[in-house]
Amino acid sequence: METKLTFPSGFWWGAASSGPQTEGWFGKRHENVMDKWYRVQRNDFFNGVGPDVASDFYHKYPEDFKLFREIGLNSFRTSIQWSRLIRDLETGEPDPEGVRFYRDMITAAKENGIELILNLHHFDLPDELLEKYGGWESKHVVDLFEKFAKTAFGLFGDDVKYWTTFNEPMVIPEAGYLYGFHYPKYSGKGKEAAQIVYNINLASAKAIRAFRESGKDGEIGIILNLTPAYPRSDSREDTEAARLVDGFFNRSYLDPAVKGEFPKDVVEVLEKDGVLPAWTQEELDLIRNNTVDFLGVNYYHPKRVRAAEQADREQWKDWMPDWYGVEWEWPEARINPYRGWEIYPKAMYDIAKNVQDNYGNIKWFVSENGMGVEGEEKYRKADGSIEDDYRIDFYKEHLEQLHKAIEEGSNCIGYHPWTAMDCWSWNNAYKNRYGFIAVDLNDQSRTIKKSGRWFREVSDNNGFII
Ligand code: BG6
Repeated sequence: METKLTFPSGFWWGAASSGPQTEGWFGKRHENVMDKWYRVQRNDFFNGVGPDVASDFYHKYPEDFKLFREIGLNSFRTSIQWSRLIRDLETGEPDPEGVRFYRDMITAAKENGIELILNLHHFDLPDELLEKYGGWESKHVVDLFEKFAKTAFGLFGDDVKYWTTFNEPMVIPEAGYLYGFHYPKYSGKGKEAAQIVYNINLASAKAIRAFRESGKDGEIGIILNLTPAYPRSDSREDTEAARLVDGFFNRSYLDPAVKGEFPKDVVEVLEKDGVLPAWTQEELDLIRNNTVDFLGVNYYHPKRVRAAEQADREQWKDWMPDWYGVEWEWPEARINPYRGWEIYPKAMYDIAKNVQDNYGNIKWFVSENGMGVEGEEKYRKADGSIEDDYRIDFYKEHLEQLHKAIEEGSNCIGYHPWTAMDCWSWNNAYKNRYGFIAVDLNDQSRTIKKSGRWFREVSDNNGFII
């Protein structure tokens, strides 16, 4: 029997993207850490492709917004690049060319009836701030971020109603300081990682305070990659390890953002292990008093957790969450072979219930969810369209779980798959394509994929039939 899944009225049928992954370097004054990484270690990047041109959104945004409308987007999440908007990083003085670009981009979104959700930081710290001050390890950088945020709110706060401070801030310490797969590619720097998590929470709270003090009419949130941590067995050890992994990777941002406080169990562990960040009571009060209006949640895959053996723990000289056990693979899992990530739609429901039950049912939206696939050209048909049915199935399965949670009272207001059009993805470059719209890197031409046409129908009908 056919059933129609209908979503709440006014639901955001959108897509997610970011400035550094789409715009290209054109007209940009500063290098961010990812630009720098590409300049100095090109071999780290799939096929040597960098962010210098990316999807040329800098020039093509007028036509791209028309395409976004064609695929049914009523909202769109992207980011302002600190390295583009700000001329003087110390004072927060804007760059006229950056102001012009973002103003025009915001106008184009409006003209196409697309609600913009603007994010301020998507892994793209200006490299000068890493070189001079040690990046997010420094509280001076926290203050400079606040200045950048103030400038952005002052310039665009009358036209943009929804703001977010950071995208996936856990990736900065995790990938850059613990596991070494993003610039500056350190491993095992647990103490620094803990300080970075704390400083970014502080930076987010300071930006939220600045937004409220600006008096602009709108809302501000944060985008977190909430990755459910499931214990590998019912044993006490695995359950305990999963709780801590959830604490390190999810609640370290989620709790301060929504409840204004750091999770006690994580603080206890950091204290016991001697890696507690430096903080002051005044800062803790600031975090407590400046929590988010809403949450963006990025979900791709869960974590499967087993308790680490003593021997495992000893192999790490420095502090690592691995001391408590993190298992990345799961024997029975469905894996996306291109990305190696487990596909587990039920986690979407679990996330929604967690936010509903444990975080005051705060308003939230899915700010990323998606399936990256390599070599999509093989699915191209004679008429030029890419028949990405696997992606449609992936979205349907996740939306079904989301719908179930909404029926049960979850306060979810939208769904933003990653991504609108294929874009540059850090060291994976253009390896795995995620877009509703294919981008041909030879001539920057765009073609709507089958999933884009499907999404239009879903958006028009505010739901779909299963
Ligand atoms: C998310 C990031 O974690 O994953 C995006 O917010 C990124 O910036 C996306 O592009 C997909 O990552 P990847 O490595 O599979 O291309």
